[in-house]
Amino acid sequence: MNRGHVFLVGFMGAGKSTVAQVVAAALQRPCVDLDSQIEAGSHRPVSQIFAEDGEEGFRDQESQALTMLEGQTPAVVACGGGVVLRTQNRALLKRLGTVVYLVVTAEEAVARVGDSATRPLLAGSAGSLAATSLLAAREGLYRSVADVVVDTVGRTSEQVAAQVISELDEVEA
Ligand code: S3P
Repeated sequence: MNRGHVFLVGFMGAGKSTVAQVVAAALQRPCVDLDSQIEAGSHRPVSQIFAEDGEEGFRDQESQALTMLEGQTPAVVACGGGVVLRTQNRALLKRLGTVVYLVVTAEEAVARVGDSATRPLLAGSAGSLAATSLLAAREGLYRSVADVVVDTVGRTSEQVAAQVISELDEVEA
């Protein structure tokens, strides 16, 4: 299993960060959280970047963080939910590794995310409605980049991670 990075994509609340940690530990690879990289690069939390730079400003930094993974030690990378929005990002994900789509429903995502203050796109009382329309708009994009699709609803992070690892074995065999 040595064909570049393993990218976890999917909607907010799909469990990408937690599952990435479990998969990375099992595969003995570094674990990279793209949102954390962006926050470290700009010395601000995601919510502040959205507030000060706007969503496009955040997306620019997200694309830059993704680009910087080229040539790095193969890692397990938890991507922000919107990474698939830009064509250039989708092309880069495909080129730099294997893409795993972690599936969650909008209802489950909102329930899991809880305090949506850290997810500015789901903030406020309209968060639930926003989740439904955002997920509907993105579903096809997630599937278009995915080499592997894993359902997360009603399953623990460990169960999801175990399936990811076994599917990767088959895809990368
Ligand atoms: C976003 C998802 C967030 C974060 C930002 C935008 C999105 O990451 O990148 O708030 O557009 O779906 P998570 O998917 O890790 O919550």
